[in-house]
Amino acid sequence: MMQPYRTSTRVLDALSDQSDDAIQQAAAVIQRGGLVAFPTETVYGLGADGLSEAAVARIFAAKERPANDPVILHVASLGAVARIAQNVPSAAYTLAGAFWPGPLTLVLRRQPQVPANVSAGRDTVAVRMPDHPIALALIRAAGTPIAAPSANRFSRPSPTSAQHVLSDLDGRVDIVLDGGPTQVGVESTIVDLTGQRPAVLRPGGLPLEKLREHLPDLAFTPQHFAESAESVPAPGTLLKHYSPDAELLLFRGPADVVYPAMCARAAQLLAAGHAVGLLLKDDELAHFEGLPAPAALLGHDAVSMARSLFAGIRQLDGLGLDAILARMPDEADGLGLAVSDRLLRAAEGRIIEVPARR
Ligand code: TXA
Ligand code: MG
Repeated sequence: MMQPYRTSTRVLDALSDQSDDAIQQAAAVIQRGGLVAFPTETVYGLGADGLSEAAVARIFAAKERPANDPVILHVASLGAVARIAQNVPSAAYTLAGAFWPGPLTLVLRRQPQVPANVSAGRDTVAVRMPDHPIALALIRAAGTPIAAPSANRFSRPSPTSAQHVLSDLDGRVDIVLDGGPTQVGVESTIVDLTGQRPAVLRPGGLPLEKLREHLPDLAFTPQHFAESAESVPAPGTLLKHYSPDAELLLFRGPADVVYPAMCARAAQLLAAGHAVGLLLKDDELAHFEGLPAPAALLGHDAVSMARSLFAGIRQLDGLGLDAILARMPDEADGLGLAVSDRLLRAAEGRIIEVPARR
C-alpha cells in the first residue's frame, strides 16, 4: 500500500457567510487531486476526484483502507449517473426519484471510464446523491463525481463531526469542511441492482420498509458473520468494523432480566479492576444507578440512537475503557435495523443472550 498522504490539514467553516469561498477552495483541491473531508446527511466523507485513479489511491492510503474495499461515487445530478454506470435498470430511476438526494446508495454496472480502484476491480460501481447542501455544492463546484468513503481510519467508527475526522485524519486530508454534526448518523443503505433480485448489502439511513414500498421483492440477508473481504458482496460489511478499542459487550433479552444481567457483569468487571462504560438510551440509565461507570446517552428512540451512536462510541473510547456494555435495541424496524447492525459489528458479532424467565 501507498504511504499515507501527508499534508497540513485546514478546517474551513462551511456554515458561515464565507462558506462559498470555502466550497471554492475545497473544489480546487479536488480538481488538483487532493483530499477534502465533507459533511453529508449520514456521516462525513473523505472525498477525492472520482474519475482520477491517482486521487482515489490517496483515499485508500489516508484511511489505510484495504484495496479490495470499493468506494461510493457521490453525484449532484441524475444525469451524472449515466456517465459512471451503464445498463442502468428502471428500478434505479424509481429509487433515485423517490429517495435522492438521500441516504441511499445504488450498486450499478460500471462504465469503463470509472477508475478500477473506485470499484476495487469489480465491474460494478456504487453511486449516491447525498442530501446535504455542502456536499452538493462541493460536487457541483468540482465538476466531477466525488469518490468518498466515510472519513475515518479503517475499522474506526464513522465520523459524525469535523472533530471526529480530525482525530483520525489530521495531516492526511487537505481540507475539512466543517458543517457541524451530521443529521442521520449512520451510513447510507446500500442496494445492489446488478443481480437477479435487488438486494440490500448494508442497512443504513434509509429504512427497508420505505424501499420495499417501491421494491417489494427486495432481499436482505444479514452478512455479519462473513469472514473475509473476498466472500462478501459489500466488503465493508466485514465484521471487524466500527470496533472500539474497548471490548463492546452487547446484551440481548427482555428488560426484566437483561438489565440485572448487565449490572451484574459490570459489577464483576469493576471488582476485577477493569474500567467499564455504558452505551445507553436515556431511559436505560436508571437501571445502572450507583455503578461507577461513565455512560454515553443516545436519546430516546432509534432515530436519535442512530444520530449519536458513533459519537457515543468515540466518547467512551476516549476514556481508555476495557469494556463497554450496551443492550440491543428492541426496535428492529426503521433505523433500529441499522443501529442493531452497527452495534453488532462493534461487538465483532458476539451477542450475550439473556433468556426470559420461565
Ligand atoms: O453514507 C454513506 O454511505 C457514507 C457517506 C460518506 O456517503 N459513505 C460510506 O462509505 O459509508 P464507506 O466506503 O465507508 O462504505 C461504503 C460501502 C463499503 O462497505 C463498500 O464495500 C460498499 O459500500 N461498496 C462500494 N462500492 C461497492 C460496489 N461496487 N459493490 C458492492 N459494495 C460496494
Ligand atoms: Mg466506512
